[in-house]
Amino acid sequence: MYKVAVVKGDGIGPEVIGEGLKVLNAVSEIFGIEFDFIDAEAGGEVYLRTGEVIPDSSWDSMREADAIYFGAVGLDPSRLQPGIAERAILEIRSAFDEYVNLRPTKLFHGLEEFTPLRKDIIQKGVDMLIVRENTEGLYCRHGGILRGETEEGGDAATNVMVYTRKGVERILRYAFDLARRTGRERVASIDKANVLVCSRFWRSIFERESSRYPEIQTENAYVDAFCQWVIRNPSRYQVVVTENLFGDIISDLVAPLAGSLGMMPGGNISPGGKSMFEPIHGSAPKHAGKNVANPIASILAAKMMLEEAFNEGEAAMLVERAVEEVIKEGKVRTYDISNKGPGEAASTSQMGDAIVKKMRVLS
Ligand code: IPM
Ligand code: MN
Repeated sequence: MYKVAVVKGDGIGPEVIGEGLKVLNAVSEIFGIEFDFIDAEAGGEVYLRTGEVIPDSSWDSMREADAIYFGAVGLDPSRLQPGIAERAILEIRSAFDEYVNLRPTKLFHGLEEFTPLRKDIIQKGVDMLIVRENTEGLYCRHGGILRGETEEGGDAATNVMVYTRKGVERILRYAFDLARRTGRERVASIDKANVLVCSRFWRSIFERESSRYPEIQTENAYVDAFCQWVIRNPSRYQVVVTENLFGDIISDLVAPLAGSLGMMPGGNISPGGKSMFEPIHGSAPKHAGKNVANPIASILAAKMMLEEAFNEGEAAMLVERAVEEVIKEGKVRTYDISNKGPGEAASTSQMGDAIVKKMRVLS
């Protein structure tokens, strides 16, 4: 029995997570795996009601759980200023030391026309594992306002990039081990070693760690140069490991190569600890409550949870194959992966139902 804390969150969060739960319930029936889902509130709506982005009761539920299944947080700026609801994600990542942010970027067959790339580039495929350091760097919350009390009133502001030896070693080892266990041959480390001392520190540890994985080819690239190479030749990259903010930006940069942000899941992983799985898209307030958002990112996040947190490889594989088939058939498509608009294309729940139906056929 796996205990899962379910944070539906704001905006389209509850709708897309609802479809992910349908898929997990189908996994239950097909494989006899039992889940105990515990609802935990977090984000903007609960903040407006209670003044807290994560109430104590939600922390309790998350502490009790084996893993966290997370929707999205954030409200329209007219209701809540940016930077408050987002704290929920950042606090969970650091509270449970989820130091890996694993973001697979994969183009499913049938979505080629929705990428912005030329046919000859896309034909070689896109299947990249982005490994983003998730607790250090500019996200370490070291910094503040100088000569002033408030963010509006100060004379200067700082955010300090911090990397610890332990932090760099563990993320690099995770990336190399991931390459090894998924049969990938290449690991690229992305940095800014021509400018940042943190990057030179990182690079020296990368050199040393790479010698422990002689069968893996490595490369170092500056983040600016990488940004154009990955668009010109995405199939060159298999595992991409990078620091926190670069990874944040790179994972959005490459998202269109998967056809849509609505296809991209992410895992905030604490190896051996408590991990959180989420779609990488946001709460999309303008689509909230309309049953139009693509639930596949959330469904693939559930698949990652089965695989990474529960070691249920067979169930994970079935979910992925069902998604693959439904996409390939092309009959059920949400608006972001079709030529129809929201409201005319398939709905969130139709997509979830199609995937569950396909799971039963394939099992
Ligand atoms: C992400 C998001 C978050 C981040 C925000 C919402 C705090 O952009 O998960 O990529 O910057 O990490
Ligand atoms: Mn981001």
